[in-house]
Amino acid sequence: MELKEAINNRKSVRHFSKKKPNWRTIVKCIDSTRNAPMAGNIFPLRFIIVDDKKTIQKLAEAAQQPFVAEAKCIVVVCTDKKMVLNAYEERAEKFCRHEAGAAIENFLLRLEEEGLVTCWVGYFVDYLVKEALGIPEKVDVEAMFPIGKESKKKGETRKKAKKINLEQIMYFNKYKNRRKKKTKKVNV
Ligand SMILES: Cc1cc2nc3c(=O)[nH]c(=O)nc-3n(C[C@H](O)[C@H](O)[C@H](O)COP(=O)(O)O)c2cc1C
Repeated sequence: MELKEAINNRKSVRHFSKKKPNWRTIVKCIDSTRNAPMAGNIFPLRFIIVDDKKTIQKLAEAAQQPFVAEAKCIVVVCTDKKMVLNAYEERAEKFCRHEAGAAIENFLLRLEEEGLVTCWVGYFVDYLVKEALGIPEKVDVEAMFPIGKESKKKGETRKKAKKINLEQIMYFNKYKNRRKKKTKKVNV
């Protein structure tokens, strides 16, 4: 699959087929996160693959989002910011969030390439997720990703979300300046 195709086709999916995804494929997708840019090349992210039914149910309750329990596998992404704090002090919090985003996008695009679907779940009660997975107090839970094959059932398939226009997000030289300077014609 072309990178452009993976970027354009990725979408959040909240209904999964009954088929369990292959955990080795998920490991390959996690492996892709190691190539994301990290400040000082310090990698603070940790990934927990959850396939235990009871634990999945606990995570769905922590997120208060029942669709999470439909998945046969959930990847929970955490950051242990200790080393980033040592290196970057007050910038560390921000860097960890950036790094989680960069790593997660690699992960999402590899899932797309492997024909798996997910939905970024960022809303949850932190302490309930930590309790369910034995995550230490100092480690942050960034997000969870229920993973599967897309359900083909009527009413459960979902079109890609409409995206913002390029003109709305891009400026030239100054904030809010939408016009590019005219390029001069050069006679040769
Ligand atoms: C930081 C973040 C948190 C999100 N949290 C949730 C969530 O808790 N539940 C959910 O259903 N979707 C969540 N989403 C998914 C967004 O709703 C989704 O990406 C958005 O609607 C755009 O759709 P698309 O992913 O199909 O392009 C989250 C996405 C991001 C980036």
